[in-house]
Amino acid sequence: MRMRKKKWARPELEACPWAVLDSDACRGRWRALFPKDQPLHVELGCGKGVSTAEMAWSERNVNFVAVDISTDVLGVARRGIAARYGSEPVDNIRLAVKECSFISQAFSAEDRVERIYINFCNPWNQRDRQKKRRLTHPRQLMQYRDFLVDGGEIWFKTDDDSLFDDTVGYLQACGFRPRFLTRDLHASGFSPNYVSEHEAMFTAQGVKTKFLIAAKGPLAEKPDVLMRKKRPAPEMTTLCYIEQDGKYLLIHRNRRENDGNYGKWLGIGGHFERGESPEECVLREVREETGLALTEYASRGVVTFVMGDWVEYMYLFTASAFEGDLRPDCDEGDVQWVDKARLPELPMWPGDRIFLRLLDEGRPFFSLKLIYDDRGVAGAVLDGKPLDVGGGR
Ligand SMILES: C[S@@+](CC[C@H](N)C(=O)[O-])C[C@H]1O[C@@H](n2cnc3c(N)ncnc32)[C@H](O)[C@@H]1O
Repeated sequence: MRMRKKKWARPELEACPWAVLDSDACRGRWRALFPKDQPLHVELGCGKGVSTAEMAWSERNVNFVAVDISTDVLGVARRGIAARYGSEPVDNIRLAVKECSFISQAFSAEDRVERIYINFCNPWNQRDRQKKRRLTHPRQLMQYRDFLVDGGEIWFKTDDDSLFDDTVGYLQACGFRPRFLTRDLHASGFSPNYVSEHEAMFTAQGVKTKFLIAAKGPLAEKPDVLMRKKRPAPEMTTLCYIEQDGKYLLIHRNRRENDGNYGKWLGIGGHFERGESPEECVLREVREETGLALTEYASRGVVTFVMGDWVEYMYLFTASAFEGDLRPDCDEGDVQWVDKARLPELPMWPGDRIFLRLLDEGRPFFSLKLIYDDRGVAGAVLDGKPLDVGGGR
């Protein structure tokens, strides 16, 4: 349940010498904020600081930074801690306002944090994509690694079984080694245990406290869950239909069986070389594949091919004049002049028939998108408008 707004909380924190509202300003300097140089422990999502007050009071030889996103709860924590310390100076606690998703903005390796406490953080169990908001998600653990010393520990308590089980996996994936684990902290004999507000609440409901300690070990590579699936870069190509006496110069791709176009009849073209313009690419490809030098050619359109993750942008040209002699010995297939009337009977990609028709109709420069699935053309868009592909499959 959300806590009621506490108007007094922020002013009290602002006036408190052991509260830090701008945590980022202390990055790398937390140790210097304490009068005594002693081990530094950080509690994330400390809430009203019920266990924090007790723990810090009992462990005066440790410095604690208690972090929470909410000034309202930190205001309550401040009052609770002040009450616990009474007339004693609060010399080993700093309350820090920070959203833990960005915790590495506030802590660095220079802070040499020896232990992190995470108690009863929100389990974010409802949807899978919410899980990355968990304070124990690998996205978080990888940040903690940066400011925890080697061998530094995470102490984690929760009421939630699925968060606990997932956290065991998260820790392992992020190079943390288990040191202690129990599914019933209060029956385990582990001591000392400082009972937090939520721990007391769940215990009263009969829910057992799950608890573990894991230590930072070496990590060879980033955990899988954080790896973005790398999509292949779009391919960039040109294709040219050279026309003469009612015929197109085509290549019958019949050289290599592992050629994705094997058996098909295509115009002349290929992939861009680095830095080439579409014109430079098509002139080079035609020269390499046929030996001809185009003297009259036109840019007729751009075709966007999509099939799953694979994308290709193809610049389409026609040519009506050239110089040189045809060299039929292309290493990709036989290069032949083919009567346009014969095209329907030749094996071709169904999408090629669509743009060949547009070329034949003399359509001005066009943008055609062809969406393929494993049965053929599943959809087409011409100049931004859906195109009926009918028998395109
Ligand atoms: C369920 S309470 C637990 C409080 C306390 N640790 C306990 O055991 O009673 C969760 C606390 O985490 C804080 N919190 C939640 N998400 C946070 C985040 N991303 N960064 C910092 N604090 C967060 C909340 O404001 C809240 O005080």
